[in-house]
Amino acid sequence: MLVKLMIASLLTCFCVTPAISQTVMNFRSVKVELPTEERMFPGGDKAAAINGNCLACHSASMVLNQPPLTRAVWSAEVHKMVSAYKAPVSPQDVDAIIAYLVQTNGKP
Ligand code: HEC
Repeated sequence: MLVKLMIASLLTCFCVTPAISQTVMNFRSVKVELPTEERMFPGGDKAAAINGNCLACHSASMVLNQPPLTRAVWSAEVHKMVSAYKAPVSPQDVDAIIAYLVQTNGKP
């Protein structure tokens, strides 16, 4: 009796499953618009120092989307990248990087 019941339920499973999967497996293509991201810092020569030192770990957008900061805070930010995150920033480029940040996204 039990065996018959098991066979019956197995058969039901096998017969019903393809029908279910046909209705569930319904693929269609979707179009997703992702926000565009600035990879490099704009500004040509003025951006050379920041492009050369600050793109190893995150995009330019990560930096440019910060609120405007004072020179002191931008300076602390650059030094934090070096001391906390071990960013390999050339010491001779630090001033140019801070100048760029103050000029593009600074506040008095
Ligand atoms: C060694 C990797 C590395 C390099 C190189 C690097 N950063 Fe970062 N930066 C990070 C990490 C890690 C975070 C924190 C990310 C998070 O919180 O999601 C971060 C975050 C930031 C933020 C967001 C604010 C904050 O403090 O979290 C700014 C602004 C920033 N970096 C600027 C810079 C600038 C300017 C340079 C070049 C001098 C630079 N980064 C180079 C690793 C790096």
